[in-house]
Amino acid sequence: MTDTLTIARPDDWHVHLRDGDMLRDVTQYTARQFGRAIVMPNLSPPVTNTASAEAYRERILAAVPQGVDFTPLMTCYLTDTTDAADLVRGAEQGVFTAAKLYPANATTNSAHGVSNVHNLYPVLDAMEKAGIVLCIHGEVTDHDIDVFDREAEFIERHLRSIVADFPKLKVIFEHITTSDAVDFVMASPDNVAATITPQHLHFNRNAMLVGGIQPHAYCLPVAKREEHRLALRAAATSGSPKFFLGTDSAPHRREDKESDCGCAGIFNAPYALESYLAVFDDEGALDKFEGFASLHGPAFYGLPVSPERVTLTRTGTEVPRIMQAAGSEIVPFHASQNLSWAVQT
Ligand code: DOR
Ligand code: ZN
Repeated sequence: MTDTLTIARPDDWHVHLRDGDMLRDVTQYTARQFGRAIVMPNLSPPVTNTASAEAYRERILAAVPQGVDFTPLMTCYLTDTTDAADLVRGAEQGVFTAAKLYPANATTNSAHGVSNVHNLYPVLDAMEKAGIVLCIHGEVTDHDIDVFDREAEFIERHLRSIVADFPKLKVIFEHITTSDAVDFVMASPDNVAATITPQHLHFNRNAMLVGGIQPHAYCLPVAKREEHRLALRAAATSGSPKFFLGTDSAPHRREDKESDCGCAGIFNAPYALESYLAVFDDEGALDKFEGFASLHGPAFYGLPVSPERVTLTRTGTEVPRIMQAAGSEIVPFHASQNLSWAVQT
């Protein structure tokens, strides 16, 4: 049995670090586990131009603990009025690594998202030419579509045509939750990839709805049926360079989750690597972990693999029931559970 794993330092290709007190208190967890992270722009107001991204990057760097080496990679929140020239300039200046497409009202702080993908075509054209990665929250928001079908429907209504119309655009189907998404990405050319969260590998929709409603298992896109979870586990552990780590860690105060209208999002940053590794261990795929966590993402983004190494050992980690952030309690993913691996510091 393998009890020690040493790999290139992983990156998180999708995280929410928030702003203000929450940013101050949660950034340490991502910065300790990951060398770089793609930081989502869904602040209020959202990060929609180079100037606001530069200012946000400074606030993030100020929240990184002394002596910890961490690089935030910034994203531009696409809207119906995105200035393509500013986006391209921001990318050339090294401020933007990617741009994020939220369909309007798909999730937290997405009211300013794109109302009609076709209006975005001039921006996608500029991104394709400039080599800027497009990260997509792939859910339709049409009220006639069942919440469990929104991802599969997005493929048919929008993603197929985006990929066909921009054959050189690098597209990441973010936090995929269905076998439909796995199949679509597998069948697409090399410029199409996907991130997968730890929660969608660990649980199906029962976690949210059986034995009383479980607000801490609620995130968007919502977890689907077991057959979809199994397809995601197979994809993540397959060794295919099309699938890589993106936690979608999305902290919300406990009172905002345990509420009449609970927020979507799971705070998984503190034990993200231990969480993912449990899956690879269960699947007998420890040899595929470095690819998923540390190699496939940089290859897709065209960035160097971290020269640093990280060691994980089968010594166990106890996840606390509650953590503190932004003057509130916050419930982490795997609260009160034991995970069988630990990151060596
Ligand atoms: O569950 C989610 N929470 N999904 C998202 O897409 C956004 C995120 C958030 O910002 O809270
Ligand atoms: Zn997200």
